Amino acid sequence: MITRRQFLEQAALTAFGVSLTPIVPHDLLAMKRSIAPADKLIIGLIGCRNMGFYDAQDFLLQPEVELAAICDVDQNVLERRTNDILEFQEKRPDQYRDYRELLDRNDIDAVIIATPDHWHCLQVVHALEAGKDVYVEKPLANSVTECNIMLRAARKYNRIIQVGQQQRSGIEWQTAVNFIQSGKLGKIGRVNIWSNFNYGAGSEKVPDSPVPEGVDFDMWLGPAPERSFNETRFHGMWRMFWDYGGGLMTDWGVHLIDMPLWSFNIRSFPKSVVAAGGIFTHKDRALEMADTQNVLFEMDDCLITWEHNGGVQVGPYDQMYGISWVGTNGTLVTDREHWRILPEKDEDKFRMEVPDEFKSDGESHINHVRNFITCIKIRQKTAADIEIGHRVCIWAHLGNIAYRTGRKLVYDPDTETILNDPEATEMLTPKYREPYQLPDY
Ligand SMILES: NC(=O)c1ccc[n+]([C@@H]2O[C@H](COP(=O)([O-])OP(=O)(O)OC[C@H]3O[C@@H](n4cnc5c(N)ncnc54)[C@H](O)[C@@H]3O)[C@@H](O)[C@H]2O)c1
Repeated sequence: MITRRQFLEQAALTAFGVSLTPIVPHDLLAMKRSIAPADKLIIGLIGCRNMGFYDAQDFLLQPEVELAAICDVDQNVLERRTNDILEFQEKRPDQYRDYRELLDRNDIDAVIIATPDHWHCLQVVHALEAGKDVYVEKPLANSVTECNIMLRAARKYNRIIQVGQQQRSGIEWQTAVNFIQSGKLGKIGRVNIWSNFNYGAGSEKVPDSPVPEGVDFDMWLGPAPERSFNETRFHGMWRMFWDYGGGLMTDWGVHLIDMPLWSFNIRSFPKSVVAAGGIFTHKDRALEMADTQNVLFEMDDCLITWEHNGGVQVGPYDQMYGISWVGTNGTLVTDREHWRILPEKDEDKFRMEVPDEFKSDGESHINHVRNFITCIKIRQKTAADIEIGHRVCIWAHLGNIAYRTGRKLVYDPDTETILNDPEATEMLTPKYREPYQLPDY
């Protein structure tokens, strides 16, 4: 029998829809029945196939939550998820194919947005304009300019926003950050981050094919360029194509790069960014991103390095992804499971006292959902407020733009340009397909 923890880990690790049986408390439906209408939190879900549904499950496990409406451009997904949701609540959610109709409903307090990244900006801005609080999946957006637009819109409408960077609500990360901030590691001159996943090698190439029945492909493409249907660019695998995502660099980059930013309280952008890489090992596969990429983020007194390898899952310290903070007294190594210290030694003497390994309780995602719900009630900033999602998303996109241009980049947040580099500056902003327009904020 799969445990709840294994289930959530798998959900967060896989890029694809997996159909595992959730563990639903037997009295959940009774608890929901006992909530007075005025105390209910009515939510909507936009993008239901994979992460959206995992998000929704942890919302539905909260007795006060009612999922009133779900929206997807794939009718097959809508049907499947409607049935799944009825495991958690008695009320059948209304189905929508167009998210704007869901947003028009006055009874909905908050929405979860878990569509492919190229849709986040428009849908979040429209949700804010409709007066909704928003839980938006990471990465915040598929470009730097969209991130900036979303931040300005969020400030204007003053809604509660949680970005789906659930590590911000994980006890394993909070304790690691506290330890790093204690200074016990000594001077930290380097943080290394790595992310090795099989899905980062794309999938087998297949020819274009007719749009599957029940799918509104034009609405799936949205602001992205028009093209014929190809399965390798659709559900789940869109993240390996620039028009819709940023590959491992943004998919995992925003989760992991956010940790050194948190631990060092960095509220700015790197002094410079350089990168190298390419499609070296999977040339015959369907993908546009580098399967092999390194990025150096230069700060005044430390280097933050990123490395990803698609198609392999062996990594440093025997972890397929992770972070090491390299201090003069010792190195802290972490992933979502645990963190531990590898101390420096002088002869036989350790330079620091070594705490026991810290093991995760696997609750980061549900904590993140609960934090959002609490913040909606008390109208306070969430654990991963839009400013946090905005900052790290820009860092990650700069890593990709440095790779694509092959040049050292300096981002200027005041002018929202790359200094002295018009070509790289142009890559900050996507070209929306008519009649879609970048929101004007
Ligand atoms: N927080 C995490 O750990 C985590 C993990 C996985 C994915 N994610 C994020 O979640 C988001 C979704 O990823 P996924 O893996 O679920 O992708 P997916 O392709 O499996 O699912 C996306 C769903 O959105 C639907 N959709 C597309 N355009 C739509 C539109 N205009 N209106 C309504 N529905 C639309 C699709 O039909 C599909 O059902 C991404 O931003 C991804 O980065 C976060």
